[in-house]
Amino acid sequence: MKHKPKPKGSVLAALDIGSSKIACFIARIIDDEGGFEVLGIGHQASNGIKGGTVIDLEAAEASIRQAVNAAEHMAAQTIKGYPLREVVINVPGIHAQSHSFGVDIDVLGHEVTDHDIRRALARAQTQALSTDHELVHTIATGFTVDGHGGVRDPRGLFTQKMQAHIHLVTGDTGALRNIATCIERSHLDITAMCLSSYAAGLASLVEDEMDLGCTVIDMGGGVTSLAVFQGGSMIYADSIPVGGQHVTSDVARGLTTTMAAAERLKTLYGSAMASSTDESELIDVPQIGEDPDVAPNHVPRSLLVGIIQPRLEEIFELVRARLDDSGLGSAIGRRVVLTGGASQLPGLRDLGQHVLDKQVRLGRPLRVGALPEAVSGPAFATTAGLLTFISEHADEMPAAIMAQAEPGNLFDRVRLWLRENW
Ligand SMILES: Nc1ncnc2c1ncn2[C@@H]1O[C@H](COP(=O)(O)OP(=O)(O)OP(=O)(O)O)[C@@H](O)[C@H]1O
Ligand SMILES: [Mg+2]
Repeated sequence: MKHKPKPKGSVLAALDIGSSKIACFIARIIDDEGGFEVLGIGHQASNGIKGGTVIDLEAAEASIRQAVNAAEHMAAQTIKGYPLREVVINVPGIHAQSHSFGVDIDVLGHEVTDHDIRRALARAQTQALSTDHELVHTIATGFTVDGHGGVRDPRGLFTQKMQAHIHLVTGDTGALRNIATCIERSHLDITAMCLSSYAAGLASLVEDEMDLGCTVIDMGGGVTSLAVFQGGSMIYADSIPVGGQHVTSDVARGLTTTMAAAERLKTLYGSAMASSTDESELIDVPQIGEDPDVAPNHVPRSLLVGIIQPRLEEIFELVRARLDDSGLGSAIGRRVVLTGGASQLPGLRDLGQHVLDKQVRLGRPLRVGALPEAVSGPAFATTAGLLTFISEHADEMPAAIMAQAEPGNLFDRVRLWLRENW
């Protein structure tokens, strides 16, 4: 269903809390379609976050503040020196679950209205809600009207009965609470939450891909998460707790070197697929605990690639298994788009194509104007997508479905609404 974008001139801010980096974008809406320009950017190595989970509140809060301060500084003119108040944040895939429902609604011969759709959405929400899960997304992916499937927007149609197909994403209350605490301590309010892989897809897929069926795989530092789009909506999401940092630690272990040296070797000389010159090319590997004056080990590049490749194959195999288990069958489509910092190794597209048996392309943020080189790559797809989400899809939030939001944070608003309405 088409959504109403935010009005021109609105200021938006996104905070992408990752296992490797924390990024903050501040933007302003510049047209009536919800298009925006990014005016403030801050990013920072993330401390206190592991595999999408906050493990040290203070360290995480400090990293968040630094990223936000840098973005505020750069956007000072637009926000007129005021500190940022409201942000949309990512929900790490690892703390989210995807649920699909078919909800039958009696329309009794009238034309379908917004109210009927809200009833369907709210009914699905109550089915998925539990004390240890929060609602993150409520998406109407399609409707069956008087037995005819594939209706995208039934409003205005006369019918007796309608079935709404609804995709809900929920998040683990405890994990989200910890993230929210870091943000509240940084004096920011969370106005919306968006699943990381959903944001990555909103940023990097073209409309045809979203319509015809496409899977975005966001390959982060600690988590690889996926979102399947079809018929213009996200219809499925899942994740695996393995990412680029696991590749790096394999390299550190395999070559007996430090994590920092392994990260450097991976980005400088790493590849997802072996090539014929790897055997003859030697690379320097600094040894753990050795004096910097001691000569490093020389190892063939093939040894490095031989460590990286199996781990990446494993990641793709796990993704394939998740897709096979999803029960979506052919709805998944033939296309895959890879995003995330860990999607940048040479040869990854070919490896993905081989293991997943799909057409694979590399993605990066598309729906933003000119971004500085340092943040225009795939690692910032989720960050940019959070802005697209808040600009164009904010009404998919549980609280928005529940009409007027009450004061207080989003979690409380959702609960409040549910208490009042059910
Ligand atoms: N040029 C590169 N080549 C290969 N890998 C890279 C490159 N640059 C960054 N990476 C890897 O990307 C990963 C970080 O990706 P990203 O910034 O998307 O993670 P994140 O969003 O912080 O984490 P997550 O989403 O898992 O919580 C790291 O593991 C890093 O090693
Ligand atoms: Mg990420």
